[in-house]
Amino acid sequence: MRKVVLFLCASGSLLTLCGQSVRSIVGPGKPVNPYHYSIVKKGEFSTASVSSAHPLASLVGATIMKRGGNAFDAAIATQLALAVVYPGAGNIGGGGFLLGRKANGELLGIDYREAAPEKANRDMYLDKNGNVQLNLSQNGHLASGIPGTVAGLFATLTYARLPFPQLIQPAIDLAEKGFVLSEKEAASLNATRSSFLKYSTRPCAFVKATNWKAGDTLIQKELAATLKRIQEKGAPGFYEGETGKMIVEEMQRGGGLISMEDLKDYTAKLRNPIEFDYRGDHIVSFAPPSSGGILIGQMLKMIEKYPVSSYGFQSTQAVQLMIEAERRAYADRAVHMGDPDFYDVPVKTLMSEEYLQKRMSDYHPEKAGQSAVIKAGLIKESEETTHLSIIDGEGNMVSVTTTLNGGYGSRTVVGGAGFLLNNEMDDFSAKPGIPNMYGAVGGEANAIQPGKRMLSSMTPTLILRNNKPFVVVGTPGGTTIPTSVFQAIVNIIDFHMSADDAINKPKFHHQWLPDNVMIEKGFNPETKKQLQAMGYQFTERGSIGRTEIIRVLGNGKRETVADNRGDDSVAGF
Ligand code: GLY
Repeated sequence: MRKVVLFLCASGSLLTLCGQSVRSIVGPGKPVNPYHYSIVKKGEFSTASVSSAHPLASLVGATIMKRGGNAFDAAIATQLALAVVYPGAGNIGGGGFLLGRKANGELLGIDYREAAPEKANRDMYLDKNGNVQLNLSQNGHLASGIPGTVAGLFATLTYARLPFPQLIQPAIDLAEKGFVLSEKEAASLNATRSSFLKYSTRPCAFVKATNWKAGDTLIQKELAATLKRIQEKGAPGFYEGETGKMIVEEMQRGGGLISMEDLKDYTAKLRNPIEFDYRGDHIVSFAPPSSGGILIGQMLKMIEKYPVSSYGFQSTQAVQLMIEAERRAYADRAVHMGDPDFYDVPVKTLMSEEYLQKRMSDYHPEKAGQSAVIKAGLIKESEETTHLSIIDGEGNMVSVTTTLNGGYGSRTVVGGAGFLLNNEMDDFSAKPGIPNMYGAVGGEANAIQPGKRMLSSMTPTLILRNNKPFVVVGTPGGTTIPTSVFQAIVNIIDFHMSADDAINKPKFHHQWLPDNVMIEKGFNPETKKQLQAMGYQFTERGSIGRTEIIRVLGNGKRETVADNRGDDSVAGF
């Protein structure tokens, strides 16, 4: 029978007893079975582990390491598998950031963020009255930036061990032979059906005559053929030749801007990571064009002098302090952050102790701060970026966040090539002060320019303790990403939580504008009441982020946890 099961209780050689952690789910020679697999929420692995948004992708990553690959091989294979089995965010038509630490201590940041096409301009989403047409920056052909993922995979290959054809083969198999949909995936494809039809100019594999249901097999022949071209020709198999031509023809049919020159000129870039200490641990995260590393650095440094641990988890004191740190960091994001190749981001100042102390000098415990009141936006819940965390047997650590931006990106499937394009142009500031789909506002630093990379919130992060691997963490969630990572770090370092609790306890989010605190169901009601009395406004929402985390325990085992909020799943041995 073809099915996906949520692993709550299992027995047998590969799984331990009900209620305990899984120790190994990649046995020697055990193939990944796309027609019958389990969602496994946590495991303690002694050698190598992966946590990602899909069980099959995690299994592919772990299997690659079992076959002699390292964490970088696994990161490549897992991302390619996600591009097939998790089309809402896994991608070859989007972009991302990879943060790595080699076992020898070398750090590396690979930026494969999408870039604005040459024909883009700062007013491209304004109508004749100067009003922003968000529909154009968020949906369909004009919303897409030049995809970066495939260039990023080949930049990662420098650090990998196995030949690329081997790393892409599992993704080809999954696309060609298909895999079984879970209930959530079936529902998600059904909910997006009308958008696929509206924004794609050719029939695509995601739409069939009747609704998808759990247990159906999704086969993606055109995507398999695209992956084979990449397998044969490398990055030119995507950016040039048949695939490149299909992307450009799709743009021409739908009024998009990406040209053959844009594709050929795209390169991944190396970025020096953001590094700082927090209560004796060393945090490493991603630099601009992501705002994530600076934001978590600012927030953690703003709260460091306070005895957060003695306040207690989700106490009024702790939450209020963290909200005020979030408010101030996100206000900086709106003004000071953008692509460093186009805008001089004042990283040193933004991260300096002196500046951050000054930022908190008007912090009043017991009183809500006030964000300047400009047009506030609503944060939508579809924030379908995706994250994977990996550690291998040698101690290489990889933290990757990759995205199409919104769920299924622009909802434009490249005709004949079978993959979705991003709607990342919406992460630029289309007009100063006007919120994008995440309610984020921006200005000059993040204005559209040809070739420029739009500001991101993606925050792939590593924590080193005593200069040794301690935590790999990251999450999707649009602008909520840095606050999720911030809270996971505080939960581990200040509140000494397990990795499971650190990511699965209810979260809160404040991003300066709109001036309210978003909370997940289950947030401490007493704390909420007390903060309301101080003047804070709250909005409850379904979920904030889907964090994947690996924490190295004192005995060297890797506590590997996938977020409970989706089908996220771990694998390892
Ligand atoms: N597209 C979401 C982000 O990069 O922050």
